[in-house]
Amino acid sequence: MNFPFFNHLIPIPLDPIFKLAALFATDPRDHKIDLSIGLYRDRRLSTSILNSVKRAEEMLLSSEVTKEYLPIEGNATFIHQVGKLVFGEEEWLQEQERTCGIQTPGSTGALAVGGRMLIEEGGKNAVVSQPTWPNHPHIFTHCGMKVGFYPYYDMDTASLSFDKSYKFFETLSEGTIVVLQPCCHNPTGMNWQRHEWELCLSLFQSKKLFPFFDFAYQGFGVNLERDAEVIRLWARSGIEMMVVCSQAKNFGLYSERPGALFVLTRSQKVKIAILSKLQAIGRALYSSPPSHGAAIVAQILSTPSLREIWQRELEKMSFRMRQLRKELFQKLDLKRWKQKNLPSLKEGEGMFWLSGLQSEEVERLRGEFAIYITDKGRINIAGLSSENIPRVIEALMVVVS
Ligand code: LMR
Repeated sequence: MNFPFFNHLIPIPLDPIFKLAALFATDPRDHKIDLSIGLYRDRRLSTSILNSVKRAEEMLLSSEVTKEYLPIEGNATFIHQVGKLVFGEEEWLQEQERTCGIQTPGSTGALAVGGRMLIEEGGKNAVVSQPTWPNHPHIFTHCGMKVGFYPYYDMDTASLSFDKSYKFFETLSEGTIVVLQPCCHNPTGMNWQRHEWELCLSLFQSKKLFPFFDFAYQGFGVNLERDAEVIRLWARSGIEMMVVCSQAKNFGLYSERPGALFVLTRSQKVKIAILSKLQAIGRALYSSPPSHGAAIVAQILSTPSLREIWQRELEKMSFRMRQLRKELFQKLDLKRWKQKNLPSLKEGEGMFWLSGLQSEEVERLRGEFAIYITDKGRINIAGLSSENIPRVIEALMVVVS
């Protein structure tokens, strides 16, 4: 340690996604378009509060009687309701036997708690998809793990490379933690087929790899049930695994940080020990999770009329993103824009499309046209609208010409 302690410090780069959000916020150009950070936007391009959320908040406001701490493991109704949503109503009744769940500050908190738990139990190596959400390697490195990348998406062909992923997994040593995204992959929007997930499951079981699912977009792909199929398939197999989920996107509760970590174990006895460990980690990191976001989610999911409103709102969000994908695809296809990158726009799910733009092109888009996409060329489909698509297309044509 030096003294004074901090005099040697030099600034480190800000997270690339939040850096762009800050740049966008201070960009004075009125015509600026934000296609970078993963926020859902409606057709007026605002990230407004869902009706179901507003109504739940009204109910909470009139019924809430205390601001006492939550238990370390969080709101029990929230965990129970989210457990049913993720694992299925009936399956949850059985899964509960061997599953412990805790509420966390967002899914980032869940990844960090899970990562700590794994490193304390000897999990030293983690692999994440190439490419992935930049916070994945960051979180696991911070937990003290060695983080590698598995081939996932081939930039040259702009398509998934399942065979390469599978072959890579075959080379991993026992106990390696593999971070998987079961739907709406961030940043590619491209996901494996069901038979490929089945192949991986067998391989993970025989090679004793540890699956760590990041499930942040349930309902943004096809629908709530279909998006959860992979998680449920793996859960049914009895494999030990972790699942983190977030209600930032599907409830539009970004700033409230609701999230959860589920650990699927082999027995009730282990479950109790694991829960105690998660409580110890949570207590050391943040003591107990924030209440409001989880209370909203719990209220919506356990009130049938609110749940119906929410599901309709969620369907509307995913429908809008699918329509925007189609519209962008058709218009770019007409212009014969970067043909190899177009199939992933059409076939992809959720918020993101990897456009294939190079960093100089991304910079030009930002500098000359005030259009913000991430440095790696990821476009947030939900930031498009029928009004801004013509301008986006025009700019895209110029920067690749
Ligand atoms: C994104 O990928 O843009 C979002 O998940 C926001 C974030 O936290 O990075």
